[in-house]
Amino acid sequence: MLLYQHLASQLRAQIAQGSLRAGERLPSIRQLAHSHGVSIATAVQACLQLEREGLAQARPRSGYFVRAASPPLPATLPSRRRTPGTVSNPMLQDVLDMLARSDLLPLHSATPSLTLLPQSALTASLSRCLRRMPSAALDYAPPQGHLSLRRLIAQRYAQVGVTVSADEIIITAGAMEAISLSLRTLTQPGDVVLVESPTYHGILQAVAALKLKVLEVPNLPDRGIDVERLELLLRQHQVRAAVLVPNFNNPLGSVTDDEAKQALLKSCARHKTIVIEDDIYGELAWSGQRPAPLRRWDRHGGVITCGSYSKILAAGLRVGWLVGGDWTDALLRTKYFSTVGSASLPQLALADYLERHDLQRHLRQLCRALADNAQRMHEAIARHWPSSTRACTPQGGLSLWLQLPGMNAKTLFDEALREGIGTSPGMLFSSRGEYADCLRLSCGLPWSVALDRALRRLGQLADRA
Ligand SMILES: Cc1ncc(COP(=O)(O)O)c(C=O)c1O
Repeated sequence: MLLYQHLASQLRAQIAQGSLRAGERLPSIRQLAHSHGVSIATAVQACLQLEREGLAQARPRSGYFVRAASPPLPATLPSRRRTPGTVSNPMLQDVLDMLARSDLLPLHSATPSLTLLPQSALTASLSRCLRRMPSAALDYAPPQGHLSLRRLIAQRYAQVGVTVSADEIIITAGAMEAISLSLRTLTQPGDVVLVESPTYHGILQAVAALKLKVLEVPNLPDRGIDVERLELLLRQHQVRAAVLVPNFNNPLGSVTDDEAKQALLKSCARHKTIVIEDDIYGELAWSGQRPAPLRRWDRHGGVITCGSYSKILAAGLRVGWLVGGDWTDALLRTKYFSTVGSASLPQLALADYLERHDLQRHLRQLCRALADNAQRMHEAIARHWPSSTRACTPQGGLSLWLQLPGMNAKTLFDEALREGIGTSPGMLFSSRGEYADCLRLSCGLPWSVALDRALRRLGQLADRA
């Protein structure tokens, strides 16, 4: 055995025995070299070996840390609503009350902390646009949105291998308006709409508001949308539209792979089900490998793709879009009678920002920070939460989904709010209040002592809830 392998095996044994615990810092390279009588190069090689094995993680300027062993995935399969029903949202008012509070540690909010976003560059773009083109900034924007921004969105799709024309893009107030507009334009009250289980609660609210019936297809933590079940449901029921989040589903963080995406599109085309694709997290692949949107394989013009700058640049600017394909004119009419058009200044400012800055570079930094936050949160959860806690281990997005068998997430939600911590209880992500023993936390906050303390407190509350 080579010297570095010998040192690595000693460290491995200390991790296995628990004398070096998840989240703890390994001795520095210098200390390792000194205490084991090896060269610096050998100590470095040993640490690199542990990193390759997934046992240690390097943090810039801080050294090597022990990684948490991957926790088991949530145990129960997602629920399956096999017959169309109505959405019940008993916690909607609780969520609205929570969102009105500014004093919370926002673990409920699936957005990156402002410190991870290019605040000063965006502020500069906003003032530049106001100064240089006050009339365009203060007047109505065209109902479809400013062409400069639509072109930039189309260019970004081209960079990831998807052909989109600026003429089929409509700028909206976030992805939420894009989804609502699509449903309002293409469905009638009483129509059946397919959603994932679990799924983002905003999708469920939009479906409920339009008096649509809902069918659920399971989304599985390790492989995304259950495409076989989807085919079965489409065979059994007449489903007008499917609202799906195949890339980094909120709350699971799961991804539906390319093969399954293509099978899903074929099923939907065969059964004439319109796909409303919510690709809001597609750009947040922590590895840097962006999963393709469904649109990439859409051969039948059956997909409306919704996107947004909320998760990557600034949620408060309220700029998102939809790619409407053959439905663009009909969607534009709905947009016009609902809001006339989206606010002009945020669109101009985002176009200005995107023309001057390297979005790809910003995304790389953001994704690195999110991956690091998620890792540290997992380590803290392993330290502070009951040992029966299960967790998804996503590779992108902004959500960590936890399950603690026996926990009542609503009780935890209420108690955590009293202590100034916002959380998203599992029931929000089901059309009929399931997942009561699950919780979604945001990994958009940079690591801090306050965050570690909050996770420890949540672990104690979860144990009692
Ligand atoms: C899956 C999903 N879709 C849409 C939205 C709404 O995003 P926007 O701010 O762009 O309206 C969110 C926000 O959390 C989300 O998670």
